[in-house]
Amino acid sequence: MDYKNSIDKNNIPKHVAVIMDGNGRWAKEKGKLRVFGHKNGVKAVQEVVEAATTIGVPYLTLYAFSTENWNRPKFEIKALMDLLVKSLEKELPTLMKNGVRLETIGDIEILPGSAAQRLKEVKEKTKDNTRLTLILALSYSSKWETAEALKSFALDVQEGKISAKDVNEETFRSYLQTADYPDPELMIRTSGEKRISNFLMWQLSYAELLFLDKYWPDFRMDDFYQAIYDYQNRERRFGKTSEQLKKSSDV
Ligand code: FPP
Repeated sequence: MDYKNSIDKNNIPKHVAVIMDGNGRWAKEKGKLRVFGHKNGVKAVQEVVEAATTIGVPYLTLYAFSTENWNRPKFEIKALMDLLVKSLEKELPTLMKNGVRLETIGDIEILPGSAAQRLKEVKEKTKDNTRLTLILALSYSSKWETAEALKSFALDVQEGKISAKDVNEETFRSYLQTADYPDPELMIRTSGEKRISNFLMWQLSYAELLFLDKYWPDFRMDDFYQAIYDYQNRERRFGKTSEQLKKSSDV
């Protein structure tokens, strides 16, 4: 099936989030080291970014390194950080050409100096691009984000900037790392695992979840188009009934 041409251009999700999983298992099945899987995962990152820009998804978040990933062997962490620095260097011209703005969520300050510095530079250079906002979740977890949000809120209360009784969904949202982005409508996870794994727990409240069996290094543009097609063929009820939805689309 030609998924790309079957996509309804009027119903493109504003934000898609991806848990890129399975690099290690992909490599192991080929008798290679886990790092080989991460290297091949970069190709899949290029594909998903190109597919998102092609069909006009305005926000794309990729879970590149979780808070829990700091527990991996030191050499794997170093290899991932080196890969990030190299990829950012190499991809900058493509990001500029395709109108991609790079942003990050997570505890960027604790990344190794070279990675933090390169991210800062690429974010600055791409800040006026408007076609796609590519958000890399790095040293990120939802529980970390929630604790940080509460800390900032408590400080603002202490300094008299906001009152505790002003807390509602909107004010809480403004303290999250993702305050400037819409919530994802679709979350894709590769590798057959069916978990959220501490990723955007508040923001994914109403997202459609899609779990694919293939490993991340095998993910290609057509998989993204198929995911969007799948999303468009689901009924999103937001707590309402099917009948209510049909009625409101008839008027
Ligand atoms: C999960 O697979 C993947 C990661 C923890 C890292 C993702 C990183 C990349 C795709 C490359 C660099 C990224 C950018 C943005 C240039 P896993 O290692 O958990 O695989 P496993 O579950 O099979 O062990």
